[in-house]
Amino acid sequence: MSTVVIVGAQWGDEGKGKVIDYLSKDADVVVRGQGGNNAGHTVVVGDKKYALQLIPSGILNDNTINVIGNGVVFDPEGFLKEIDGLKEKGISIDSLRVSDRAHVVFPYHREIDRLSEEARGADMIGTTKKGIGPSYMDKVERSGIRICDFIEPEVFEPLFRKQIEAKNRIITQIYGGEPLNADALVEQYNAYAKRIKPFVADTSLVVFSALKEGKKVLLEGAQGTMLDLDYGTYPYVTSSHPTSGGFTIGSGIGPNQIGEVVGITKAYTTRVGKGPFVTELDNEIGDRIRTAGREFGTVTGRPRRCGWLDTVVVKYSARVNGMTCIALMLLDVLTGFEEVKICTGYKYGDEIIENFPASLHILGKCEPIYETLPGWSEDLSECETFDALPQNAKNYIERIEALTGVPVKIVSVGPKRSQTIIRGEIY
Ligand code: GDP
Ligand code: IMO
Ligand code: MG
Repeated sequence: MSTVVIVGAQWGDEGKGKVIDYLSKDADVVVRGQGGNNAGHTVVVGDKKYALQLIPSGILNDNTINVIGNGVVFDPEGFLKEIDGLKEKGISIDSLRVSDRAHVVFPYHREIDRLSEEARGADMIGTTKKGIGPSYMDKVERSGIRICDFIEPEVFEPLFRKQIEAKNRIITQIYGGEPLNADALVEQYNAYAKRIKPFVADTSLVVFSALKEGKKVLLEGAQGTMLDLDYGTYPYVTSSHPTSGGFTIGSGIGPNQIGEVVGITKAYTTRVGKGPFVTELDNEIGDRIRTAGREFGTVTGRPRRCGWLDTVVVKYSARVNGMTCIALMLLDVLTGFEEVKICTGYKYGDEIIENFPASLHILGKCEPIYETLPGWSEDLSECETFDALPQNAKNYIERIEALTGVPVKIVSVGPKRSQTIIRGEIY
């Protein structure tokens, strides 16, 4: 099967960008199908570091078509800034295609995101404030503006003015904020639309045609399974479906087109923003992981919450995504720990929970049940094969496979392309 889906198995920031960049050398098309510039995918090529948000991570490979699919919410300002940054670094953006059906993120979405978070007070979700939730709200409410209308000034202006008027009422009357200036925004966004128009296409057709020609398609998930609107720790989630099923809608291909589903999994666990996290280590071990893994958000710079690997989460993620293999990332970060722990279940009162529960009330009272394995002190960053890894690191990987029932086909021992161990064919 020539279609590979890359999904985050945890709460995002698992290293998806690195794997997509690595695999895109063999891909013809890379597609983003959900989320927006709330994503931050870091890719290291040689001594250069790229932080991609809306643009697919395949952009750094010359021969790949890079698609922003219909399921994405598209921020024109963010997009233009990102392409300008890439051009400055000498990266060609000619391969980019943007879906005519994608919804547009406007300044009122960002403003409402910010104001509604403030209004939630202690119950805030901890969003990236990129306007993602409010933009998907408009889409579902059927008042959103799509790219196909955005790029036609005479269609766009009346739609946009109507929305600004409605949103200004929300901003001023519900939140007591400052209204947005419609005239200035119409002019600014028409100028953006002019620059964006050449990238616009029926991207479902682009992907379909590629598949028909037997080409290889890589579907790039953003966020992670535990941030999925249905499967994640609701309401502490994002507003899209970062799971494999989300791609059939978000990129316009049939479910029978999906072959391999790669679950990108950190060798430990992190999360940014609020919400339950059973294996969180709010102590010096967590601090040590944060420092070694440089666990600070790409988009917001926030310190990421850190904890041990949770196989209740990964097993659940494997189930709801139909995961066929795991890419185990940042294994090098665990070097130097005398022992490493894996969570195998939750203790909830007298009960033992093995399947990730829906209720945050229950989750909040769960204690992790750990299995402890001996750690390793050897530097992994130069290991090129599985056999070259220290025995205790191999044991750790094999234990994860046994606990999750999913083979680990990729092991990552550093941020660079070369620091990637391939154990099995992906395409
Ligand atoms: P994404 O959102 O899933 O693409 O992940 P991020 O890019 O937000 O965060 C992952 C971070 O880990 C990035 O800074 C990567 O450069 C880095 N990274 C990826 N793989 C490895 C690895 O195996 N070891 C180390 N030390 N860093 C890695
Ligand atoms: P990548 O693709 C980690 C989190 C936010 C917040 C919640 C909702 O880099 O893995 P939103 O702005 O989406 O409404 O915020 O989701 N979040 C992420 N966390 N990685 C991401 O993307 C994220 N995108 C959103 O921190 O908790
Ligand atoms: Mg990230």
